[in-house]
Amino acid sequence: MSSPQNLRVEKGRRTGRTIIVCIDSTTLGSALGGCRIRSYTSWQDGVRDAVRLAAAMTEKAALAGLAHGGGKTVVALDPHDAPLTGASRRELLQDIGDVVESLDGQYWTGPDVGSSPEDMAVINERTEYVFCRPQRLGGSGDSSGPTAAGVLACIRAVREHVLAGQPLTQTSFSIVGLGHVGQLVAEHLASSGARLIVSDIDPRRRELAQHWHAGWLEPDEALLAEVDVLVPAAVGGVLTPSTVAALRCRAVVGPANNQLDADSTADLLHARGITWAPDTLVSAGGIVAATGHELQHLLDHEIQGLLAGIGDRLGDILQEAHQKDQAPLHVARQQAKRRLARAHLPTYS
Ligand code: PHE
Repeated sequence: MSSPQNLRVEKGRRTGRTIIVCIDSTTLGSALGGCRIRSYTSWQDGVRDAVRLAAAMTEKAALAGLAHGGGKTVVALDPHDAPLTGASRRELLQDIGDVVESLDGQYWTGPDVGSSPEDMAVINERTEYVFCRPQRLGGSGDSSGPTAAGVLACIRAVREHVLAGQPLTQTSFSIVGLGHVGQLVAEHLASSGARLIVSDIDPRRRELAQHWHAGWLEPDEALLAEVDVLVPAAVGGVLTPSTVAALRCRAVVGPANNQLDADSTADLLHARGITWAPDTLVSAGGIVAATGHELQHLLDHEIQGLLAGIGDRLGDILQEAHQKDQAPLHVARQQAKRRLARAHLPTYS
């Protein structure tokens, strides 16, 4: 792993809590990355996660063609902490806003695991460098819709490049995780007549399966279901040497971050003839739409065009991977590295 450009570990003035901000790269422009607030066994674990997630954001922005780098904020809560609500949550968010502000626009934050558009409005009391405030306050709001649109564009690319243009009505999917993005993807696929298996750790979501006329399996079983496309839409690390050996799908395309336990697992997938779409690209819809709305002031249909373009970018990667007989991960990495390297070239205009 390359070392990050900038790592801040600070104690919040109001709360005394440790706030970690990692800026992985600003080579292509200011760094973007959400604010993760969750429990970790130690703050050092939080630092490790921030460094890894910030590097993934650099790749995500580069692959999506954005003029931005990657960063991440992590607040490592103690597993025994009471849920953060009310005044203590507000103070923490203001502390985060102060740290972001002190970076002078080198880094922009946004929602992530454990933080919401409403939270972004509080961060905004201390800094302007924040995406996805609620729409009523002038932000672009929840980014689940555009993230799901990016996933669907990638599913289209996989149908074209891997499933010989097979129509959705004849394609089967297993969706593991029915959070905001997973639900939107399932809803769309169900209404397009695809065959679905869905799954979530929360058994109450089983009602959704009935509503969509989808099958329901426990997450471990859904991961190994015999389908055309597996859609990991929950936590990371689900693809390991042992799960990959047992998969029964032809392609894996989902928005969960950091799906592979290690890069070498991409080669195991490739050796089994299973196409794995790089998660950094599949999940890029959120940052594409947030920057498009809030920085470039694009119109809705222009943003829809950019989201569809995520599928075209995946199509190019899949084609090159096929020609080179390589896992798509390596092609994506090379593309991102090439973009970053070219940023240092002089421009003559
Ligand atoms: N969680 C988002 C992501 O990983 C973070 C984000 C969304 C950051 C929108 C900025 C804007 O892509």
